[in-house]
Amino acid sequence: MTQLSAAQNKPSDGSKALYGGKGTRRITVRDIALAKERGEKWPMLTAYDAMTASVFDEAGIPVMLVGDSAGNCHLGYDTTVPVTLDEMTMLSAAVVRGTQRALIVGDLPFGSYQEGPVQALRSATRLVKEAGVGAVKLEGGERSYEQIRLLVESGIPVMAHIGLTPQSVNAMGYRVQGRGEEAAQQLLRDAKSVQDAGAFAVVLELVPAELAAEVTRVLHIPTVGIGAGPETDAQVLVWTDMLGLTSGRVPKFVKKYANLRQVMGDAAKAFAEDVVGGTFPLEEHSVH
Ligand code: KIV
Repeated sequence: MTQLSAAQNKPSDGSKALYGGKGTRRITVRDIALAKERGEKWPMLTAYDAMTASVFDEAGIPVMLVGDSAGNCHLGYDTTVPVTLDEMTMLSAAVVRGTQRALIVGDLPFGSYQEGPVQALRSATRLVKEAGVGAVKLEGGERSYEQIRLLVESGIPVMAHIGLTPQSVNAMGYRVQGRGEEAAQQLLRDAKSVQDAGAFAVVLELVPAELAAEVTRVLHIPTVGIGAGPETDAQVLVWTDMLGLTSGRVPKFVKKYANLRQVMGDAAKAFAEDVVGGTFPLEEHSVH
């Protein structure tokens, strides 16, 4: 795909760009489809709470994913596996409340859709009705075809997720997917399968850039890359990684745009020293 500057990346048909557009209504999956037709790239970030989501909404991020990465990044679990549907519903509702424009995608956690399409529909319905999300995401390609099909037929837009699927960490580990001819062919089959099932977009996680580029060329729905090179239609990052809040090592594909861990730690220490040293509160912070 040709690289376009932010200014060149505006739609020429008079409609609103996903990023940089000024519309105040919620973005829908139809806007996402139009962006693919225009060849417009767009950013997606995760969000797990209303306040962070409101910052990203004001910054113009058009799509936010209430990812089950909340398990590691927000709730203190080691993996995404323990995250429950109750937790995802609560976090998704907060993100919806904190935003006005972004399309909010709620992640279906492990165990909430693997039993089959009916369980998937029951779980997705909770995220749509109780949390108010505009779409849901679930992991798996060919193996999730029936689930995706029933949700889409029932009026629930689905973002699929293939390549590295963290809910299967116990089976696949955290390794690059789609390497080698056979694995690449399987990834292509997975991508076509979720498109055929009716998904409006597909996340490609940790797959070779060349393969992600090929999937992006072949599909008519947008691809959302994370560790999948520069050629996907959209890019997603976990917000705590990209703002430098995550402790320890982050994956190679993360670009850190800030060091919030340092900023917050320094601020907490400055507050503590003021309290211990008696320099906070001062007269200006006091009421009489
Ligand atoms: O849960 C999540 O944050 C995700 C993204 C990494 C795509 O699935």
